[in-house]
Amino acid sequence: MTNSLEQLKATGTVIVTDTGEFESIAKYKPQDATTNPSLILAASKKQEYAKLIDVAIDYAKDKGSSKKEKANIALDRLLVEFGKKILDIVPGRVSTEVDARLSFDKQATINKALSIIDLYEKEGISRDRILIKIASTWEGIQAARELEEKHNIHCNLTLLFSFVQAVACAEAKVTLISPFVGRILDWYKASTGKDYDAESDPGVLSVRQIYSYYKKFGYKTIVMGASFRNVGEIKALAGCDFLTVAPKLLEELYNSQDDVPQKLDAAKASSDDLEKVSYVDDEAQFRLLLNEDAMATEKLAQGIRNFGKDADTLLKELEERF
Ligand SMILES: *[C@@H]1O[C@H](CO)[C@@H](O)[C@H](O)[C@H]1NC(C)=O
Repeated sequence: MTNSLEQLKATGTVIVTDTGEFESIAKYKPQDATTNPSLILAASKKQEYAKLIDVAIDYAKDKGSSKKEKANIALDRLLVEFGKKILDIVPGRVSTEVDARLSFDKQATINKALSIIDLYEKEGISRDRILIKIASTWEGIQAARELEEKHNIHCNLTLLFSFVQAVACAEAKVTLISPFVGRILDWYKASTGKDYDAESDPGVLSVRQIYSYYKKFGYKTIVMGASFRNVGEIKALAGCDFLTVAPKLLEELYNSQDDVPQKLDAAKASSDDLEKVSYVDDEAQFRLLLNEDAMATEKLAQGIRNFGKDADTLLKELEERF
């Protein structure tokens, strides 16, 4: 009998993991992995990562005029250092996050992405192995559109909670979106006081709708469900292009023998009753529809605030090193 993790992979779903810790990446052998200031902040407390921080500090020492500038330079270098280590282990790509505080500035997002790619390339890593992670704001999606089109830089659009964001991302031809299943569930639980099973889980239903829409209309953007609260949500999305699973839930799937039947099927999506819509060139409509969706609006705003906070803490720690 194969374990649930192997069965999940057998439905065609590619498994990705979110961790700053290299041992768990080595253990579960995901195709891709991701890194961001929050994960690095957690990992950097451990002795074995001190060396990576030293590399970044060393790199930034003679650059930038203020301690603050040096810390910013060191942070990018540190993200790349973690990314490099992860790429030693995974066969696929690593996601590296653009500072969430740039989420409403298209040009600054583009510039940051270009400079991260430049750092990777100086370390001998080609842009094919990197995904630049950007929040799915209007400005973020437009930045990704340009990065993909003009610079051949692949993007992972995150903090995605709604259909309108997903449609605009597909039209912008971004490489991958990561809708946040568990955070959608959290919002609905808190606002309705109800409990949801996997089949009625609003996060699961949202990803299923996006998946069907993409497949029905032939969009190439990869759908990667992320932020899971339990294995039920994961199993309910078996067959999705990619799923990103935290080490704790990977462990649960790995230790379970439960059946994992395929739930999402590209071939069946063509018969779904969905109409084609377009938002990527209609900023007003995009913003209005996003604003109509209280959950997506609040979760996007909160996500940007929280990613920003962890980056800030990490920057302060780096600043102290100069
Ligand atoms: C894309 O970003 C999401 C959200 O932060 C992350 O969970 C995921 O692992 C990333 N995907 C890839 C393929 O790196």
